[in-house]
Amino acid sequence: MYLPLPYKINYDTTRFNFKSIITAILGLGTEPLESLHKMETYELMVREKDQSTIWHKKYYDQYMQDFYPTYIALIETLKQDLNYSELIYQKIPTFRVQLANGNIAVGEWHKDKAYNHGESEVNFWLPFVDTNEKNTIWMESKEDKGDYQPYTVKYGEILVFSGANLVHGNKQNDSELSRVSIDFRLVDPVKFIPNTAGSINMNTKFDIGGYFDKI
Ligand SMILES: [Fe+2]
Repeated sequence: MYLPLPYKINYDTTRFNFKSIITAILGLGTEPLESLHKMETYELMVREKDQSTIWHKKYYDQYMQDFYPTYIALIETLKQDLNYSELIYQKIPTFRVQLANGNIAVGEWHKDKAYNHGESEVNFWLPFVDTNEKNTIWMESKEDKGDYQPYTVKYGEILVFSGANLVHGNKQNDSELSRVSIDFRLVDPVKFIPNTAGSINMNTKFDIGGYFDKI
C-alpha cells in the first residue's frame, strides 16, 4: 500500500451491498440515506458529539450481527487484491453521518496521528451515497501542503489515503443531501507498531485484539 496521493478503488456493490444493509440497520424503510436529516435534527457537531447520534447507536449496536459478515468479506477481498498473506484491519469501521442543511461529520480538521494513530495505517473511506463537494471529505494532497480539495466519491468506490499524515476534515454540508459513510484502516503487519494509547472514539487500545485484528 503505497500512498503518493489519495486515490480511489472500486468494489462490487452487488456482492457487498452496504447501502441496503445500512438502510435496514438505520430502520429507514424506503427513505434514502440522503434524507437522514429529515428524520432527526442535530446541532452543529463538535468533536465530543460527532459519534453520538441515534444513527451511530443503531450502527454500533447492530454491527456484529448485521454489518460485520459483509465487512470481513470485503477485508478478505482487499487482502487478496493487495497481495498480502496477512493483513491488519480495524475491527469495527467508524460510522459517520454528515447531515444536510449545514452540518459536519467530524468535529475538527486533523491528522489521525494527533489521535495516536500510527503513520503506517492506511485509511479506507466508503460512502454509501454518491457524495458531492459539500458533503464529502476534504484533504490536503501532501503533508502540511494545505492545498485542501474535496474528494468526491461515489457509492461503490473507496477513497484510500494516509489519514495519519494528511490534514482532513469536512465543510458544512449546505447541500440538500445527507452523507452516510464508514472508514477503516488497514496496516501492513511488517510496518505495524502497536500503541498502548487508544482510540478516543472506541475506547480500545491500538493493538491486535483491541482496535485492530489480523486476518
Ligand atoms: Fe481522521
